Amino acid sequence: MARVRIGIVGCGKVGHIHAAALSSLPEAVFAGVCDNDGRRAREFGARYGVPAFDNLTRMLEEAAVQAVVICTPHPVHAAPAIEAADRGVHVLVEKPMAASLADCDAMLEAARTGGAHLGIVSQRRFFPPVVRMKEAIDAGKIGTPVLGAVVMLSWRDEAYYRSDPWRGRWDTEGGGVLINQSPHHLDILEWLMGPVEEITGNWANLNHPYVEVEDTALAIIRFRSGGLASIMVSLSQKPGIYTKIHVHGSNGASVGAQTDGGATFIAGMSSVLEPPVNDLWTIPGEEHLLARFQQEDGDAFRAVDATTYYHYLQDQDFLRSIVEGRPPSVTGEDGRKVVEMITAIYRSQAEHRPIPLSR
Ligand SMILES: NC(=O)c1ccc[n+]([C@@H]2O[C@H](COP(=O)([O-])OP(=O)(O)OC[C@H]3O[C@@H](n4cnc5c(N)ncnc54)[C@H](O)[C@@H]3O)[C@@H](O)[C@H]2O)c1
Repeated sequence: MARVRIGIVGCGKVGHIHAAALSSLPEAVFAGVCDNDGRRAREFGARYGVPAFDNLTRMLEEAAVQAVVICTPHPVHAAPAIEAADRGVHVLVEKPMAASLADCDAMLEAARTGGAHLGIVSQRRFFPPVVRMKEAIDAGKIGTPVLGAVVMLSWRDEAYYRSDPWRGRWDTEGGGVLINQSPHHLDILEWLMGPVEEITGNWANLNHPYVEVEDTALAIIRFRSGGLASIMVSLSQKPGIYTKIHVHGSNGASVGAQTDGGATFIAGMSSVLEPPVNDLWTIPGEEHLLARFQQEDGDAFRAVDATTYYHYLQDQDFLRSIVEGRPPSVTGEDGRKVVEMITAIYRSQAEHRPIPLSR
């Protein structure tokens, strides 16, 4: 089997999840790690038995990596992604793709000119109940998807925001719940119902006075198909309750998943505790399958380490996309759409109007 030499940029919390995946993936040669905190890089490298570097340039030159996974804070995704892609090194970027559309465009341009694959992490797309929703919608089982809802009722405490200096600040995080916790579900919604025509949004900080960014956002999306969706994402419920995505079709049938029970997991701080399950399935003739799906989803969840397994699947997809010469399942263009949705919600509140998205 062809194997790809791959390194990690950013030896923090989510870096460990990718390190676990790359250490066990048959498609990977885990070839190096780098962090601008040299001590952190050395400790991380020692733990996984791979060479460590205190900057990306040295890792690219000395570890001969063919691909990298970018695990730095989001406003720092673009610079290493562009440096790698410029050299033709394939790039998988943690979500969100970046904190600005200008960064996204520069990353896409670098990947195009460098001939590099550019993928964006959205590991919940690989959840079995979400895959089931996608397959049902693509098979036309709900007619056309005409109405969607994302509801995230989650929680982050003060210790979470204090855990790293970049969290909770506009300049170093680029926003709050929208830019950090919501990209997964915005990506899935766009995947199931997109493309998006326009967005109207509002956001607020309801009960996190120790951070300057929003802990809650609401939005209404109009899709180019004429379909509509609502988004309510919040980190202000203590304890966290659930995150769900539901899609209703033109034939009246509905499909849905609870992707997260309780609060969404925090890499390096908490685990995925409840199985992602379908919680809604009214496709004519398939209503009775819901209980079976839930049983299967529970069994699948108990058979894996769910905190790392879906990153494993996406890293594997990315490596295979390189070997097979096909686009990764979640592309840079997909990541840009999510950042465009997020920035449109911020702008909509600031400008008191719906924001049209680019075509
Ligand atoms: N897919 C998921 O479920 C998931 C989960 C957690 C985090 N993330 C994303 O991963 C990214 C990192 O989050 P985290 O929680 O691991 O953060 P973290 O603070 O724990 O780790 C970030 C690391 O990047 C390093 N770093 C900063 N600038 C650098 C640079 N220029 N070059 C090299 N290293 C640099 C820091 O020293 C730190 O070690 C964020 O964009 C976050 O949204 C995704």
